[in-house]
Amino acid sequence: MKAFIVDRYGSANHVRFSEVPDPEMREDDVLIQIHAAGVNPLDSKIRDGEFKLLLPYRLPLILGNELAGVVVRVGSRVGRFKPGDEVYARPDKKRIGTFAEFIAVREDDLAVKPKNLTMDEAASIPLVGLTAWQALIEKGQLKKGQKVLIHAGSGGVGTFAIQLAKHVGAIVATTTSSANIDLVKRLGADIVIDYKKDRFEEVLRDCDLVLNSLDGETLKKSLRVLKPGGKLISISGPPDPDFARSLGLSRMLEFVMRLLSLRIRRQAKRHQVNYSFLFMRASGDQLRQISSLIETGAVRPVLDQVFPFESTKEAMAYVETGRAKGKVVVRVNRPGF
Ligand SMILES: NC(=O)c1ccc[n+]([C@@H]2O[C@H](COP(=O)([O-])OP(=O)(O)OC[C@H]3O[C@@H](n4cnc5c(N)ncnc54)[C@H](OP(=O)(O)O)[C@@H]3O)[C@@H](O)[C@H]2O)c1
Repeated sequence: MKAFIVDRYGSANHVRFSEVPDPEMREDDVLIQIHAAGVNPLDSKIRDGEFKLLLPYRLPLILGNELAGVVVRVGSRVGRFKPGDEVYARPDKKRIGTFAEFIAVREDDLAVKPKNLTMDEAASIPLVGLTAWQALIEKGQLKKGQKVLIHAGSGGVGTFAIQLAKHVGAIVATTTSSANIDLVKRLGADIVIDYKKDRFEEVLRDCDLVLNSLDGETLKKSLRVLKPGGKLISISGPPDPDFARSLGLSRMLEFVMRLLSLRIRRQAKRHQVNYSFLFMRASGDQLRQISSLIETGAVRPVLDQVFPFESTKEAMAYVETGRAKGKVVVRVNRPGF
């Protein structure tokens, strides 16, 4: 099959299309013909080797962390899916590779694609949808009437998280630039802070939860807008010891993460708020709940651009600009290419 691979960590110079063997299937795997794959900042970080200590992939590696497609074959222990089913998924972090014609995904990581979405739209959901779910619902325990700040509301995670928080009944504040104010308001944001004009830490106070996806300065300033007992959840680092333990990392790496997050954890303690890092995980169960929200219209995908498969490199470069409005997708299933 054709796949978009990285040969050597380091830069965009070491990625290319290649013919690779079809995926090997395990008993609890579902083989999927990929129709579309979402593109995320994570793809470039993996390509550059930023995750090589945490996720020691074998090279060459097929890139890509989410997909929508059609089931072609199921393993002997698979009960929930059959050939012909339209599905979507974020595969397990150890078994990525959605910039390809086929992939084998564990049944438990898969869900039926929302009926009201195209393949392109469905492919844009799993990674950001699960991230928002795990940050706001699972870790954040966000409740009706609570106030949440979602940074970078116009990005992939932000566009989903705003809608999910509104669905819960929260009061949603978000940061974005002037060009995207209308977009985040249409998604339901109640308080919009143009980060080029105003300082969010001077506008907001008494938040119950902050979802940070930006830099360390933003993380630190976010402490000031939280009420005592509030939660600061960061998906852009620094990783903390709980995260190291959840991944089963070595004592050494746990120690490194303790050091990396020491400062923010101390500052959080001083503000009487809780700091935690989240690295999202695959979950078919949560994706099924996300499908219901999409089918009832509570959440809709926000697509910026769809690139043809042969332009995967360009799609990644576009995401790397950091200016995408919602999600970027590559359309994989193009017979003949
Ligand atoms: N730990 C995890 O499990 C996890 C999961 C998903 C994502 N992430 C990480 O979270 C980060 C965000 O991911 P993403 O997919 O949402 O990225 P993205 O879609 O590429 O984000 C682009 C958006 O960010 C906005 N933005 C950039 N700088 C901003 C600023 N200073 N203030 C407010 N908005 C700003 C841009 O809006 P403007 O053009 O208006 O500036 C743009 O719409 C990435 O670092 C990603 O790797 C982590």
